[in-house]
Amino acid sequence: MKIIIINGPNLNLLGKRERNIYGDLTFEEFFKLLKNKYPLIDISYFQSNVEGELINKIQEVGFSFDGIILNAAAYTHTSVGIGDAVKAIETPVVEVHISNTFAREEFRHHSYISPGAKGVILGFGLQSYELALQSFLN
Ligand code: DQA
Repeated sequence: MKIIIINGPNLNLLGKRERNIYGDLTFEEFFKLLKNKYPLIDISYFQSNVEGELINKIQEVGFSFDGIILNAAAYTHTSVGIGDAVKAIETPVVEVHISNTFAREEFRHHSYISPGAKGVILGFGLQSYELALQSFLN
C-alpha cells in the first residue's frame, strides 16, 4: 500500500514554530517513528511552502497512490487551486490538521480541501496523521 503525507507551508518548522500549538517534535522525527511503527506500509513524505508545488505533487501521485494524507496548512483556508486538485484526482485524500482549527480564529474554520476529501481529522496533534493512516488500513 502506497501512502503519501503532503504538508503545506510552515510545517517544515514543526518543533520550532508556535510549540504551544504544534508541539516540540520535528516532522522528520515524527515521520521516522511512524514509519517504524508501520513497516509494511510504503509511506512517503513531501513538504512545500509553494502552492503550485503542492498541486504538482497531488497531480503526480493522485492516479497511482492508495491514499494521500494532506495538511495544506494555511492554504487550506485560501487555496481554490489545491481544493480543485483534490477533486480532480482519483486517490482518496484525508485532510488532517494538527490543531483543532475550529477552536481557533474564524478564518481557520473554512476549508477549501474538505469538500473533496474522503474525511477530515483534526485536533489530535501529530497523532492526527496516524489516525488518517489507520483510516486507509480499514
Ligand atoms: C494547520 C492549521 C492551519 O490553520 C495553519 O495555518 C497551519 C497548520 C494545523 O495543522 O493545525 O499552518 O493546518
